[in-house]
Amino acid sequence: MNFSQRLAADAGLCEARLLAALERRSDQPVTQAMRYAVRGGKRLRGFLVLEGARMLGVAEERAVSAAAAIEALHAYSLVHDDLPCMDDDDLRRGQPTVHKKWDEATAVLAGDALQTLAFELLCDPALGSSDVRMELVRGLAVASGIDGMVLGQALDIAAETAGRSLTLEEITALQAGKTGALIGFAAEAGAVIVGADRAPLRRYAAALGLAFQIADDILDVTGDEAKTGKRVGKDAGAGKATFVSHLGLEGARSRAAELVAEAEAALAGYGNRAANLIAAARFVIARDS
Ligand code: IPE
Ligand code: IPE
Ligand code: MG
Ligand code: MG
Ligand code: MG
Repeated sequence: MNFSQRLAADAGLCEARLLAALERRSDQPVTQAMRYAVRGGKRLRGFLVLEGARMLGVAEERAVSAAAAIEALHAYSLVHDDLPCMDDDDLRRGQPTVHKKWDEATAVLAGDALQTLAFELLCDPALGSSDVRMELVRGLAVASGIDGMVLGQALDIAAETAGRSLTLEEITALQAGKTGALIGFAAEAGAVIVGADRAPLRRYAAALGLAFQIADDILDVTGDEAKTGKRVGKDAGAGKATFVSHLGLEGARSRAAELVAEAEAALAGYGNRAANLIAAARFVIARDS
């Protein structure tokens, strides 16, 4: 299987687990909105869980609930990120955003319930002992909360509201929360499941997460809405300081390429077993969606 086939196969596993988790639920508009919000996307975070696990000898059936959990948590973050009080976006994954398709209250509630669904998925006994599941729950809570994704989002919104341009150092710190923390959880989950050393995957994810956000900022400038499935030109329109506004397009591209080399180096000890994760790092900066 080449990389894009692997990514598609892992995306299919994530989606099936997510939709199974959303079966036999109270039939409400918010339930429909949750199913809608988890569809599509690249599923990079789910891929990182499944491939990190596979690299360490963990079968996909054992890890798939953690892959679905991070994708549910990520989907919640996107639904809320798009709300009028945040980025005020009307297009996501090529479709109207949840608050456009339904309404704001439904979008807030669908996000809330996707977040709790993520923790429900991490309670799946297939993931391992109760100690393993507790560590996954703790890891996702920390990565998504006030020292992780929420912190990054809060800093992002605060800078925009204050109309203050962040320094490159501040943007790097913001990114570590906004994007880096969930990517870090995803890459380390397989090592948590099997009780392996997490340090190499942590180093890989730190470089990958930063490269990923630089690519997101580049796509906001150079991307095509038909391919990204979301509005472009939003960051400059909002006067946001981004990696591109600081480094320029070429500078941002070369910084991202350096980070991919760092991500690869972090996994050198795994030899060929790291091939899929290394391909993912290259994909992150070459992607057009
Ligand atoms: C977009 O994430 C939001 C950021 C954290 C920059 P993705 O680019 O992974 O979005 P999907 O899941 O593929 O739609
Ligand atoms: C959103 O970052 C990150 C999270 C949802 C945590 P952005 O606001 O840059 O993401 P896009 O560009 O809307 O996907
Ligand atoms: Mg945002
Ligand atoms: Mg946004
Ligand atoms: Mg963006």
